[in-house]
Amino acid sequence: MKNNPFIISGYISPEYFCDREKETDAVTDAIRNRRHITMFSPRRLGKTGLIKHVFYAGKNRKYFIPVYADILATGSLKDFTEVFGRSVLSALAVNQSAIKKILKGLASIRPKAGIDPVSGEPYISLAISGEQEAADSLDIIFGFLRKQNEHFAIAIDEFQQVISYPERNVEAVLRTHIQQTSNVSMLFSGSRRHILTGIFFSPDRPFYNSTQMMEIGKIGNEAYKNFISSNFEKNGIKIEDPAIDLILSITATHTFYVQYLCNRLFGEGNKVTTETVNQMLIKIITENEAVYASYISMLTPLHFRILRAIAINGPVRYLTSSDFLSSNNLGAASSVSVAVKSLMDKEFINLDGEIYSLNDLFFSSWLKFRAG
Ligand SMILES: Nc1ncnc2c1ncn2[C@@H]1O[C@H](COP(=O)(O)OP(=O)(O)OP(=O)(O)O)[C@@H](O)[C@H]1O
Ligand SMILES: [Mg+2]
Repeated sequence: MKNNPFIISGYISPEYFCDREKETDAVTDAIRNRRHITMFSPRRLGKTGLIKHVFYAGKNRKYFIPVYADILATGSLKDFTEVFGRSVLSALAVNQSAIKKILKGLASIRPKAGIDPVSGEPYISLAISGEQEAADSLDIIFGFLRKQNEHFAIAIDEFQQVISYPERNVEAVLRTHIQQTSNVSMLFSGSRRHILTGIFFSPDRPFYNSTQMMEIGKIGNEAYKNFISSNFEKNGIKIEDPAIDLILSITATHTFYVQYLCNRLFGEGNKVTTETVNQMLIKIITENEAVYASYISMLTPLHFRILRAIAINGPVRYLTSSDFLSSNNLGAASSVSVAVKSLMDKEFINLDGEIYSLNDLFFSSWLKFRAG
């Protein structure tokens, strides 16, 4: 069977990656010129993919050592230090002598070396027992970084997570370490715009104005069209131009949804027409009905009516205009505003500039489909 060229998780290689040339250059330029950078975008638009893409090319290792840490699953400074420490030290564990040097140099924080059973790559992990040990270990790891001759690009993905840690001064601690470590460019990334804005734009917070902000937008239509058509055609699957337009319109060119729809269509192996695209969309949303039912069970009737109204009307600008409220039977503007805020916190709704849309585009299609 042919490899499906439309991946729906992770990063493989540039071959599977569409465009992002300008963004790749901008991030690389920031790293090489020793600036810190913060990337933000709505969920699943391709931040992690972009980081991995910038880090992928071995050729970059001569300019910087890439370190990637995903802190989504961390809940405290202790967790952070374990994930961060493992990422930094594993990036340096390139051969036996480097591993020996790390184990010896950092003996006080008891690093442990092993081989990752999935990737086959060596890693070095830390087991930290409490808050004080976490703080001490961070000191030691940053001290170790400062002693290296190389420049490091350290990506901390899902950075907004730090505000949920119980320790009060995490931002200040990290900021101080980073400021003292001149051979490190940080790449912060996350999807919770208002949390990141709070961290980086509040004059009274440690990270105020300390990084270059970079909003990751959608991949351009032309670039995605070419990527889709060439990946189908070179694998011997015909795809009609109107079918590509329909894919990009259903998914609003949102990376994950484009990838997913194309992945499924490719999997069928048949010629792709507007009809097969529509059929596939119905198949996908029908498969997901149980998930959507569980979403709905989490919602109040007003929440549900708001989501349905956005789904039916497409991305909406004036959610609380009297026209929109009355034609969708939503009631008072004040309660809709409160409900919308709650739906944004729960990540059902995304606000892009002044435009509201649903985060899950297949859920949006399903709501529209069910409404007839
Ligand atoms: N340029 C690209 N070309 C092709 N596929 C991509 C591209 N960028 C991302 N993807 C794919 O799209 C999906 C979403 O991308 P990714 O996980 O990078 O988004 P994200 O913005 O980090 O999302 P989240 O906010 O949920 O962490 C992934 O399956 C990834 O493989
Ligand atoms: Mg991500």
